[in-house]
Amino acid sequence: MKFSNNIEILSSQNITLITGATSGIGFEMLEYLAKDNQNILFTARNETKAIKIINDLISVYPSLRISYALCELSDQIEILKLTNYINCKLIKVKNLINNAGIFPVKNRISKQGIELSFAINHIAPFLIATQLYKDNSFDKYSLILNINSSAHYRGRGDLENYDPQETYNYSKMQRYSETKLANLCLTYKLSKLYINDDILVNAAHPGIVATNLLSNNGWLSFLNWGLKLVGRNANKSAKELFEVIQKCHTDKLSGVFFSEGDIVKSSDYSYDINLQDKIWNISIGLINASTMEF
Ligand SMILES: NC(=O)c1ccc[n+]([C@@H]2O[C@H](COP(=O)([O-])OP(=O)(O)OC[C@H]3O[C@@H](n4cnc5c(N)ncnc54)[C@H](OP(=O)(O)O)[C@@H]3O)[C@@H](O)[C@H]2O)c1
Repeated sequence: MKFSNNIEILSSQNITLITGATSGIGFEMLEYLAKDNQNILFTARNETKAIKIINDLISVYPSLRISYALCELSDQIEILKLTNYINCKLIKVKNLINNAGIFPVKNRISKQGIELSFAINHIAPFLIATQLYKDNSFDKYSLILNINSSAHYRGRGDLENYDPQETYNYSKMQRYSETKLANLCLTYKLSKLYINDDILVNAAHPGIVATNLLSNNGWLSFLNWGLKLVGRNANKSAKELFEVIQKCHTDKLSGVFFSEGDIVKSSDYSYDINLQDKIWNISIGLINASTMEF
């Protein structure tokens, strides 16, 4: 975990925290957040990319407060260092955009032994959101927006504990779908748990977008060419998502699923309260060990 040299400018400020902003949809969203003069903290893994992003945006928006945190989101300890910093510096998170995600073309596990796509697509948003909440780092009418996927419609949630061996039995598409269904169940569960604190929790599918989602998979990265060919422009999705954020605040929406900017019904499984509780309990089990270690 490392922060940009200018991180102190965010102390005691209201911020938008966005994960995975060095590429694709997250990268394009930065421009809209900057134009709106929001204070931004984004997560990245590549410092050279992160510095360039800051320099480019500051050259257009000189008064912008923007910093980065180098954070490997599959590692729960890194996430806890990030939320701990936010807490210590009295930063209030007005918008948490859980955007970072991967498609699991290869079998990989996280430091804590969790299948990698489940760790990044579900456990990371779960841990960031719940830890910020515990630390009282959200403001009144803060928004948590989970970048989900229409792939969740294929999810069934019938995994018992999401351990790697169990998920390896699934096709890659099914595995991705299960991570997104779990993330959506979490969205609905949190929207109910946080309702009395006036914290809004929603999820959004950005469309099929020409990004790097299928790269980072070694020689199988050629699959990404297909996505670049059929996907829509990432800037278009980013604009829609920015409008979704505004709409959530204006209309005080919570517990809602958006697809390409419109509110739509998500899968029947995602509304199943028993499944939401099951995934919640499994997720708590998967983070307990590391939070105690921290
Ligand atoms: N593209 C689509 O068609 C599509 C459709 C539905 C939903 N989505 C969702 O949209 C979100 C954004 O994806 P995208 O399409 O914009 O993909 P992308 O271009 O691959 O961007 C993903 C971002 O997540 C970051 N990231 C990946 N693994 C990480 C890790 N272990 N730790 C920290 N950061 C990590 C990446 O960082 P690096 O730059 O360092 O790799 C990158 O900034 C994802 O949640 C995805 O599931 C995408």
